[in-house]
Amino acid sequence: MSTIHVHDKVFEPYLSEGEIGNKIQGMADRINKDYAGMRPLFIAILNGSFMFASDLFKAISVEAEICFIKLASYKGTKSSGHVITAIGLDIDLIGRHVVILEDIVDTGKTLSEFLPQLEHQQPASLRIAALLHKPEATVYPIAVDYLGFAVPNKFLLGYGLDYDGLGRNIPSIYKLIE
Ligand code: IMP
Ligand code: MG
Repeated sequence: MSTIHVHDKVFEPYLSEGEIGNKIQGMADRINKDYAGMRPLFIAILNGSFMFASDLFKAISVEAEICFIKLASYKGTKSSGHVITAIGLDIDLIGRHVVILEDIVDTGKTLSEFLPQLEHQQPASLRIAALLHKPEATVYPIAVDYLGFAVPNKFLLGYGLDYDGLGRNIPSIYKLIE
C-alpha cells in the first residue's frame, strides 16, 4: 500500500480507479433510466467536480446538456453572512430538468445556499448527483438523489479533490492519515 505526500500531509489509498468507475457507471445507468426523453441539464460545480462530471457525462446515453459553473462566496451584510453566487450559469432553467453534479457534499453548506437560488429560476425538477457524501459531517441536511459513496468524516484527496491546490490530478481517491 503506497502512501503519497502532499504539502505537509500523508495520504493512503482509499478508492481505486476501478471502484470509482464502476460506481459512476451505476449512477449513470440510473440517471439514463430516470431521464429518458427529458433532455436533462447537468450543472457541474467547479473546480472539484470536473473529473467526476467528465466521467459521468461520458456514461450518459440519453440526450442531455451540461454546463460548468463556479460558486463564488463573498461577504454580504452582517445578517446574511457569506453570500454565494454562481458564475457562468448562462442557460435558462425554466422548465428544465436539472441535475447538479458535485464532487463531495461535506457540511452541506454550499448546496443549502445554492439550491434555493436555482429553485427560484423554476426548473421543472432539481436533483443532486454527488460522487461522495460525508453523512457524519452534516450541518445543513442535503438529500443526495444519486450518490456514489458515503464516506467517513476524513479529508479526501484526488479525482478532482484538492488539498490546498494540489492533488486534483490523482486518478483515484486517497484519505488523510491522521
Ligand atoms: P460543504 O459546503 O461543506 O458541503 O463543502 C463542499 C465543498 O468542500 C466541496 O465541494 C469540496 O470542494 C470541499 N471539500 C469537502 N470535503 C473535502 C475533502 O475531504 N477533500 C477536499 N475537498 C473537500
Ligand atoms: Mg466542490
